[in-house]
Amino acid sequence: MQLPFTGVVIEVDNPTHPLLELQPFYEVEYYSYQDTKAMRVVVIWLLLLLPNYFPWFSISPCMGNQIDNLNRLIASRRSSNPPRSDSELWARLDDVGNSHNSPVYVGSQKGLMQADKIDKLPGQPEGVDFDQYAGYVTVDPAADRALFYYFVESPANSLNKPFVLWLNGGPGCSSFGYGAMQELGPFRVNSDGKTLYINEYAWNNVANVLFLESPAGVGFSYSKNSSDYTDVGDKRTAEDSYVFLLNWLERFPQYKTRDFFIAGESYAGHYVPQLASYILSRNKGTNQTLINLKGIAIGNAWIDDDICTKGLFDYLWTHALNSDETNEGINKYCDFDSGNLVSKMADATDQCDKYQSQGVTEMGDIDLYGIYAPLCNLSAIKPGQDGNVLNFDPCSGIHVRSYLNLAKVQASLHAKATKWSGCGDVGWTDSPSSILPQIRDLAKVIRVWIYSGDTDGRVPVTSSRYAIKTLRLPVETAWQPWYSESEVGGYVVGYKGVIFTTALHLNGTLTEDYL
Ligand SMILES: *[C@@H]1O[C@H](CO)[C@@H](O)[C@H](O)[C@H]1NC(C)=O
Ligand SMILES: *[C@@H]1O[C@H](CO)[C@@H](O)[C@H](O)[C@H]1NC(C)=O
Ligand SMILES: *[C@@H]1O[C@H](CO)[C@@H](O)[C@H](O)[C@H]1NC(C)=O
Ligand SMILES: *[C@@H]1O[C@H](CO)[C@@H](O)[C@H](O)[C@H]1NC(C)=O
Repeated sequence: MQLPFTGVVIEVDNPTHPLLELQPFYEVEYYSYQDTKAMRVVVIWLLLLLPNYFPWFSISPCMGNQIDNLNRLIASRRSSNPPRSDSELWARLDDVGNSHNSPVYVGSQKGLMQADKIDKLPGQPEGVDFDQYAGYVTVDPAADRALFYYFVESPANSLNKPFVLWLNGGPGCSSFGYGAMQELGPFRVNSDGKTLYINEYAWNNVANVLFLESPAGVGFSYSKNSSDYTDVGDKRTAEDSYVFLLNWLERFPQYKTRDFFIAGESYAGHYVPQLASYILSRNKGTNQTLINLKGIAIGNAWIDDDICTKGLFDYLWTHALNSDETNEGINKYCDFDSGNLVSKMADATDQCDKYQSQGVTEMGDIDLYGIYAPLCNLSAIKPGQDGNVLNFDPCSGIHVRSYLNLAKVQASLHAKATKWSGCGDVGWTDSPSSILPQIRDLAKVIRVWIYSGDTDGRVPVTSSRYAIKTLRLPVETAWQPWYSESEVGGYVVGYKGVIFTTALHLNGTLTEDYL
C-alpha cells in the first residue's frame, strides 16, 4: 500500500501521533465515503442555484471537504521543520498596492479548446448529451509546470448555467479522481475498472464544472522542475490555480463573464478561501482578465487545526465511538484554545497524545469518512458492469485507480502517460493553522456557504459548528430543516454573510446515497 506523503518535506518527529495512526487504513478505505458526500452535496448545490425556492438563502454561497494527507500535515506542525503558518504570506483583501498587480503569465490558447475536446471516454455509456474537455494548462513555462483539468458542461443551456471550479483536499489529492470520478462528476467507474456508468446526480446537470488537479505533482499535473514537488504549499497552490484560471479563460473565453463559484471539501477548506481571496485581491490591481467570482462553498472543511481537532474527538464521543474517560482526558489535557493543542499542565503533551491515541484505538476499524458506511473488502470485489449510483460502493477508489491507469483512458483525456494515483507525493511547506480570518473577510464581499454531512467523522459537523461560532456572526435566518421531496434532508442557518447547512445521514446508506 503506497502511502501519500512518503519521503517528503514534511518531517514527523513524533510518528506515534494519534492522528497519524489513522493514515494506513484510510489510504484504501477513505475512497469509500466520497460517494455519499457528493450525493448530499447535489441537493445543497441545487439550493445554491435555485435561491427562489429557498428565499431565506438569498445571502448565500458555498461548500467544501477531504483529508488524509492532512493527518501528516497536522502532525508535522510539531516537527523540527514545521510548515510555515504565518498569515503574512497572505495578502489581506483590504491591502492596496500590494505585489498582486504585476501581470501573470498568460500563453496563447489558440485552438486548444478544440484540441482538448474529449471524443468519448473509453467504456462510457451511450447517450451522453454533454461536452467534456480535458488537458493541460501551463502555469510556468520556464519550469514546464502544467496543471491538468477535466471540464464538463451542462447538457442543456450551458450558456445560462453557472461556472464552478471544484477542488478536493489532501493536501495533494486529486479533484479528478475523487471529485469527478467518485463524487459529483457525470460518471462513476464500474467494478471491472474499465467501464463507466452514469451518476444521475452529477453537478453538471445544473452547472458547468471544472475539476482541477493541483498543485503540480497531483494526479496528471506535473512539473519538469522536481523541486516543485517538494517546495510547495498553500501559497503556490493558490497562485498556480489563479494563473491556471486566467489561461483557461483565454482557452474558453465564453466563460469569462459567467458567474463563477469555487467549491471544495476537506483540505480545500484552505484552497477555496485562499484562492478566492487571491482572486479578489488580484482583481483590484490587474489589467488582465477579471474573474467574476460570486461565491464559495466549503464542505466538511478543515479550516482551523485546533477547532477541527477538538470537533473530531467530540464527534467521536457524541457518536458513541469513544468512551467517556477518553473524551474527558482529551478535553482535560489538550488545550484547544492555546494554539498548540496542549495545556500547561505538567505532562500534558504526553497525556494529550495518549488520550487521542486511545480515542483512535477505541473507535476501531471503521470508515471515519462515513461512520456508518461499509469498508472496502478487496478480496470481495467482483468485476462487473452493474454499478449504480444508488448502491454505495466502498471500493470505488480502487476502480478509479484501475481506470485512470489504462493507456487508452489516459490518451482519451489528453494526459501524459503516467502512473496515476489519487494523492501525490508532494511536500507541504506552508499552511496557516487557521483560515477563519480569510473566511471572515470573504463573507463581507462574496457569498459563503459552509456545509457539512453529518456522518463524516474526519472533518465532522462539530468542527464546522465550533469554527463558525468563533466568527461570532449574528444569526439572520434561524435554524430550520430543509427538505428533499418530503423528507428532511438536513438543516440550514443563515448568519450574516455565511450560510451553514448540514446534510443528514437519514436511515441507511441507500437513503444517504440518494441524497
Ligand atoms: C498591463 O500592465 C503591465 C505593467 O504592469 C504592462 O506591461 C502591460 O502592457 C499592460 N497590459 C495591457 C494590456 O495594458
Ligand atoms: C527549479 O525551481 C527552483 C525553486 O523555484 C529554482 O530555484 C530552480 O532554479 C529551478 N530549476 C530549474 C532548472 O529551473
Ligand atoms: C472479504 O471477502 C472475502 C471473500 O468474499 C471473505 O472471505 C472475507 O471474510 C471478507 N473479509 C471481511 C473482513 O469481511
Ligand atoms: C429507509 O427509507 C427507505 C425509503 O424511505 C425505506 O424504503 C427503507 O426501508 C428504510 N430503511 C431502513 C433500514 O429503515
